[in-house]
Amino acid sequence: MHNQKPFFMRDPWEYDPQAPRPVRPDSHLGFDTRALHAGFHPLKNVEDFRSFVPPIVQSMTYPYQRFDKFPDYIYGRSKTPTVSVLEERLAALEGGEGAVTASSGSQALFSLIFTLARPGDNVVTSLNIFGEGYKQAATIFPERCGVGFHFVDDPADPNSWDREIDAKTRLVWVETPSNPCLSVADIAAVAQVAHSHSVPLLVDNTTATAALQQPMALGADIVLLSLTKFLSGNATVLGGAIVGPEALVEDIRWNTIEFIGAIMQPMEAWQMLQYLETLSLRMERHSANGQKVARALADHPKVLRVNYPGLPRHPQHRLAQQQMSASGGLLSFVVPGGLEGAATVMNNLELVVHAVTFGTSRTICMHPATITHEHMTPQERAAAGIDDGLIRLSVGLEDPEDVIEDLDQALAWL
Ligand SMILES: Cc1ncc(COP(=O)(O)O)c(C=O)c1O
Repeated sequence: MHNQKPFFMRDPWEYDPQAPRPVRPDSHLGFDTRALHAGFHPLKNVEDFRSFVPPIVQSMTYPYQRFDKFPDYIYGRSKTPTVSVLEERLAALEGGEGAVTASSGSQALFSLIFTLARPGDNVVTSLNIFGEGYKQAATIFPERCGVGFHFVDDPADPNSWDREIDAKTRLVWVETPSNPCLSVADIAAVAQVAHSHSVPLLVDNTTATAALQQPMALGADIVLLSLTKFLSGNATVLGGAIVGPEALVEDIRWNTIEFIGAIMQPMEAWQMLQYLETLSLRMERHSANGQKVARALADHPKVLRVNYPGLPRHPQHRLAQQQMSASGGLLSFVVPGGLEGAATVMNNLELVVHAVTFGTSRTICMHPATITHEHMTPQERAAAGIDDGLIRLSVGLEDPEDVIEDLDQALAWL
């Protein structure tokens, strides 16, 4: 009765280095136009009513009209209409062919690696990655799935990546600028290295966002996003996404997510669509404020080091200027006295909130050594630049002078 293969039965994606890069039909439109229009046209998308804003379709099942005709949407565990608008918009902003959302950025990473790698395979990355990503790489995948991880010595050196790739490498994964030390990797150079081994490159674009950095235009094949951070911008949504070739994202959707149920929900997708409309405006302001706060900290006598790609002293400052349009709102700095020094400063901040996230409209600080990167060994933390006195600061949209004044008075307690 069913004479065609249903769209939800997908073959595993195979990376083909020779395949031409698909060109999106909306690639002629500017970034801000895509942030407002991609995936939804008020007069084209909805047959039964006209809505200026993409509607929330909160149904978790989609009736079949006939036994042998598959509806476009089937069940809430694979895809739903509002989430599809968001996926199309994220793909448009990153310049990718397709996107699949997840219930968090960590889940998106997990679903990608779980879909791509088999026991005996490996993934090449560095220690300059977010804490939960490190935990997946260091223990969860090796111990529970038999997938190994190679950590490169120096993520800023493309040869370092080259040395770690072997015949069983399924993915090269770069986070740039990295959380929490803002190390910057050369996307184009690492893409070239990965492609010379016929391996696809994943770039985690969470800290910069597509408003400041376009990894796919520089050669990346896949982009990882936490929607929880700057993309939503106010800590009201937990979400993630993988952007990449359509065959890959549909492999993830239909062969992994459909069976483990780790998808984003319509209400969250709808909120994300509102937030993305102001992404480039917000990133511009985060960057301007980040630059001012970074400069003030760099000039402060009690601050030992500031990690911010917009400062000329940053080791990859020139590269960051080439591959990013601005430096963003995330920075970190080291105070004397290790853990105790960091605690003194953080306990005395009045305006800046101590909380576990970044990319919010309000300025937030966090202590990576004890909160997000506590699973690393002290040696690994040292190699990644995560000192006990390191404080991560996500500069928000307040008047930067007020943030600087708050930091000044808290540093005076040292
Ligand atoms: C760079 C980066 N990527 C991905 C994630 C994971 O995102 P989520 O918190 O949404 O799971 C994080 C979280 O801190 C992150 O910093």
